[in-house]
Amino acid sequence: MVKAKVFIFQKQFNGLPKEGDLRLVEENLPAIKDGEFLAEAVYLSVDPYMRAYAPGLPLGKPFLGSQVARIVESKNPKYPVGRHVVGQFGWRSHTISKGEPFHIFPAAFLVPELGPDVPLSYFIGTALILVFLEICNPKKGETVVVSGAAGAVGSLVGQIAKIKGCTVIGIAGSEEKGKWLVDELGFDHFINYKTADLDKALSEVAPNGIDCYFDNVGGDTTNIILRHMNDFGRISLCGSISMYNKEDRKVPLELFNLVTKQLRMEGFVFNRWLDRWLEGVQQNHQWIQEGKLRIRETVTEGFENMFKAFVEMLQGKNFGKAVVKA
Ligand SMILES: NC(=O)c1ccc[n+]([C@@H]2O[C@H](COP(=O)([O-])OP(=O)(O)OC[C@H]3O[C@@H](n4cnc5c(N)ncnc54)[C@H](OP(=O)(O)O)[C@@H]3O)[C@@H](O)[C@H]2O)c1
Repeated sequence: MVKAKVFIFQKQFNGLPKEGDLRLVEENLPAIKDGEFLAEAVYLSVDPYMRAYAPGLPLGKPFLGSQVARIVESKNPKYPVGRHVVGQFGWRSHTISKGEPFHIFPAAFLVPELGPDVPLSYFIGTALILVFLEICNPKKGETVVVSGAAGAVGSLVGQIAKIKGCTVIGIAGSEEKGKWLVDELGFDHFINYKTADLDKALSEVAPNGIDCYFDNVGGDTTNIILRHMNDFGRISLCGSISMYNKEDRKVPLELFNLVTKQLRMEGFVFNRWLDRWLEGVQQNHQWIQEGKLRIRETVTEGFENMFKAFVEMLQGKNFGKAVVKA
């Protein structure tokens, strides 16, 4: 009999998640039935959306999350033994699944075999980021600002904006992150939102204004950036991580800037473009091989350390994508 380790959502978060909000239990799994497969987690993702969606999640159930898992038994010909699958299986070491869609997430899909230079963990993070950037559609010579710049999404958005010939300004929370963005990823400027006067710093590094803003953090940062946008600027709303640990997630927005500067602001959820997932994977793969795109991961070892990895990501300890190796 297979024993699964599972993190159960025990108690609603209040501020930063605490030990005891999730509980690690063991479950005996039954034999699989026709149409099912058994998958063993290899890499699990820890993401900000888990904190963002937590207030709407039921207690007493496994906490939500995606993973790359190896199929170890199968009675479903679409999911053969030995292949790897990306699934929204939750924080579980072993899962019996039919591969069906869950919540806003798609059906489990098989990892394409792209060769040994593409790590498996890569498939729980980066594929659609190229498409996310299409919302603000940056053009050669324009100035792009990205917040959450040293994270999974932000570090790729900035690099892709560089590939497109833009001047790129990254906003993140430590000097070490800034050094990585500028010295290694080729960002033009970095602003530390924890220590700098953002308004003043933007006047210095973007004296001609901002054409595109890729917003990962929301809150006051967004308000300050609105003041620096150029006429007909575009803003892509990806996330609001500065608000996720707060009880009151409301912040007054200076929307009059959208009127006077004739700005366009659009939010999105990744699943709008699932049909373009493979295109994203292949384009990123090509850029990686050409040396134009670098992917960094912060890997925590051990399924038992999922909670630690999750909290450390929320605290900003990750560079690039935060993943757990089971
Ligand atoms: N719309 C979608 O479909 C979609 C998909 C994926 C992700 N997202 C969103 O994209 C954003 C980034 O996600 P990710 O997966 O790439 O995570 P990530 O950026 O790799 O990790 C989270 C980062 O957020 C920063 N952070 C934490 N608290 C903050 C605060 N109060 N103010 C500013 N920054 C803070 C930390 O970096 P610092 O050291 O810089 O503080 C931390 O490293 C999140 O808002 C997420 O919800 C949206």
